[in-house]
Amino acid sequence: MSGAQRDILIVDDDRQVREVLHQIFLGAGYNCLLANDGREGVEVFRSARPPLIVTDLKMPVMTGIELLRTVRAADQDAAVIVLTGAADVKTAIDSLKLGAYDFIMKPVNVDELLIAAERALERRQLLIERREYQELLERRVVEATRDLASAYRQLQDTYRSTLEALGSALDTRDVGTEAHSRRVHGYTLATAREHGMPETELTDLAHGVLLHDIGKIGIPDAILLKPGALTEEEWRIMRRHPEIGKALIEKIPFLRGAVPIVWAHHEKWDGSGYPRGLRGEEIPLGARIFMVVDAFDAMTFDRPYSKAKPFDLAKAEIERCAGTHFDPAVVESFFRVPEPLLEEIRRHSVEP
Ligand SMILES: [Fe+2]
Repeated sequence: MSGAQRDILIVDDDRQVREVLHQIFLGAGYNCLLANDGREGVEVFRSARPPLIVTDLKMPVMTGIELLRTVRAADQDAAVIVLTGAADVKTAIDSLKLGAYDFIMKPVNVDELLIAAERALERRQLLIERREYQELLERRVVEATRDLASAYRQLQDTYRSTLEALGSALDTRDVGTEAHSRRVHGYTLATAREHGMPETELTDLAHGVLLHDIGKIGIPDAILLKPGALTEEEWRIMRRHPEIGKALIEKIPFLRGAVPIVWAHHEKWDGSGYPRGLRGEEIPLGARIFMVVDAFDAMTFDRPYSKAKPFDLAKAEIERCAGTHFDPAVVESFFRVPEPLLEEIRRHSVEP
């Protein structure tokens, strides 16, 4: 134990007792500080912060109990041993409730006093170490929780940017339109919210939209990039892309929710679509929403062989196909999306 830790404050109004205690602790190697009463004891404690205090109970100006209270309030680790006469045993027991480590009956037995002092210092050290360990554990838990949350956020970001990169790659390989998937993604979410789709279903919907044409990876470039019209046989191959897409992503757990949209994104309300010829509400809602906004984007954005139409002409065309290609209720929801929001999504998505 270091010298500083063996500092002891002795508080007693009886000069002789004080001097005897002084000699006892001096002889045992302690560095002693002395005080006449409680108030003086508090002053010495405040300036020197000794780890151990031995105090009488009955003293003028300030009692040992008051000293104990003040010292423990200032330092929860202060070890206090109370000295008491036989008449004062009840007060001594009360002092334990206030945080005193021990009490010693007068007349003092030297061995008993020194053992009590050693034990008090050891117990104080244990309590400090235990608290520091507890604090260390708590800090570690906070750090681990923060690391986990940050890792989770990074993972989510990685998923999203991977999907967006994949979406952009599919766009450029296919029709050469930049950011098609991102625009359609924005229009889809706006329409889905207008249609009252629960927020919890929007992530799967977004994944489905970004990946809708992922099956085109399995279509030969000679067909996908052919400048002229496709032959009947080429169309038959081209129409396989929703099934190829479904097979690609259904094995990836976090993309499973996107499967219905990828699989059904060419189905039409009247049953004339592909690959399954689903009709009406047999078609998953996400796919019905996608059909409308994908057609809107195709009409309102320049493509290699067709100029962009103004919004109102595109909307008129969509209105004409409500009930044949499109779910009429979804068309209504799409028309309720404010035009400035559509403009905003369109503008935002072309910026790099
Ligand atoms: Fe497609």
